Amino acid sequence: MLFSLRSKLVFGLLYILGFAAADVSARTLQGSAGLVVADSEHASQAGMEILKRGGNAIDAAIATALALSVVDQGSSGLGGGGFMVIYRAKDKKSFALDFRETAPAASRRELYLRDGKPVPAASLTGPLAVGVPGEVAGLIEAHKKFATLPLAVLAAPALKLASEGFPVDAAMKVSIERGANNFKRFPDLGRIYMPNGEVPKEGDAIRQPQLAATLKAIAQQGNEAFYRGWIAEAIVEAIKKEGGVMTLDDLKNYKAVWREPLIGSYRGRTVITMPPPSSGGVALLQMLNVVEGYKFADFTHNSAPYLHLLSEAMKHAFADRAEHLGDPDFVHVPQRKLTDKNYATWVRGRIVAEKTFAPTYYGYYNYNGEKGSTTHFSVIDKDGNAVACTQTVNTRFGSKMLVAKTGIVLNNEMDDFAIHGDTGNVYGLVGNQANSLQPGKRPLSSMSPTIVLNGNRPEIVAGASGGPRIINATLQTILNILDFKMAVGPAVEAARIHHQWMPDRLGVESGVGAEQRKDLEKRGHALRGQSALGVVQAITWDGTTMNGAADSRKVERARTE
Ligand code: GLY
Repeated sequence: MLFSLRSKLVFGLLYILGFAAADVSARTLQGSAGLVVADSEHASQAGMEILKRGGNAIDAAIATALALSVVDQGSSGLGGGGFMVIYRAKDKKSFALDFRETAPAASRRELYLRDGKPVPAASLTGPLAVGVPGEVAGLIEAHKKFATLPLAVLAAPALKLASEGFPVDAAMKVSIERGANNFKRFPDLGRIYMPNGEVPKEGDAIRQPQLAATLKAIAQQGNEAFYRGWIAEAIVEAIKKEGGVMTLDDLKNYKAVWREPLIGSYRGRTVITMPPPSSGGVALLQMLNVVEGYKFADFTHNSAPYLHLLSEAMKHAFADRAEHLGDPDFVHVPQRKLTDKNYATWVRGRIVAEKTFAPTYYGYYNYNGEKGSTTHFSVIDKDGNAVACTQTVNTRFGSKMLVAKTGIVLNNEMDDFAIHGDTGNVYGLVGNQANSLQPGKRPLSSMSPTIVLNGNRPEIVAGASGGPRIINATLQTILNILDFKMAVGPAVEAARIHHQWMPDRLGVESGVGAEQRKDLEKRGHALRGQSALGVVQAITWDGTTMNGAADSRKVERARTE
């Protein structure tokens, strides 16, 4: 057998459910001729099926993405968008594909205000929350440039899952339970996910015949069907009926964009990650540059001194995120300055071991004088091609609008623009002009699909879901593997922290010990216990064996956000 999915044979696809992320284990997978790790077993299998048929990593990634758009529309799908970072082994080239949603041409900040005051719900739920979806354009673009199998073959597993149905798993059941009010308020969503008006039981089948027809049309006609044909018309009709501003022209004009990948280094490795409009890659490189100056091998993993240094690096990076990052097609993003090793040296000089500082202390400014959802999957094929892909509809089930004729759940990515002033967005993220809402602009993202090369070998393929926690979860996974020499399973599962500068508090998972917490408080950190700081899917490859881990936090996250 080409593929040894050892989890299936030995571990029996473990999803050990628990109430604290630290008490549970990742779903671990192993292979020697290619591996796909998604946060859904069906989606991983869809990708593996394609690898077995001789498809490459990009073929597998497209099949995985399409399957995710069926089995977990709560997290990502045809109504959303994402980013894909690709490493091509034969010529050692890397690529970054941006299929992030854009603001409709008629959108403006005033639509999200009442009596001059921000209305947070407007950018989160319903028609004004929806950005022009980029997922289909992104997958078609990746297919055009890299794929070896026809789109119809790659869409087949997703089509089967949509038409024949897929069994509800623990994470999906919890999501539906927790969102029951929305499913009542948005009956088109409810008809699919709460048939008979009840929360389905684990194992019950969810069938999506309209989504199957949509997938079939996309597999046959590509972008034409989605962005110009009956699917576009159905989306616009549904949004208009509810009072939204998206038009057929918005869909017609949408384009996925190839961007120059962001390339940095960490302890002799090459780090390939996503440039703006993701803030993830810039922040990740900033933090890696800062912590590279510390000898973490001398620290105890997750000790207070270690976590303090990490949170200080996070505060600096997120201060810069709020100040400087936005869509590079609209604003100048000083990414070279922010990811410069000299800047990192200066940041290290401002970090002291004994205490943390007030928010004004952080960020490049001084130097010069998301409840969320989303999903990440990682792929490596037998030839060493790698794909790190993170995709999203933003928060769970996005805008909650399901376009009945198409079966598609529409995103609420408009909330990722800085439109709510000091109160920040659903994740408490603040921003300024760089990420202001403008027609056609892409909202700033935290998605950080990342490939770490050791020489020319993809050593780590990683990324996460979890709004701004994505960036810090990806960072800590990389550090756990490279600095603390952990295998991928423990690296993904180890307790994490999260600081995003504002609000000025340090999130800590339950696995961070009481003594470490006290010690961090002594340094001035305001701690906040959190149960699932991001959901990571990662693969490591030592040149012989590929090991993958799907984070067990997926269920816990659905339960607590
Ligand atoms: N919608 C979450 C993100 O892109 O950061």
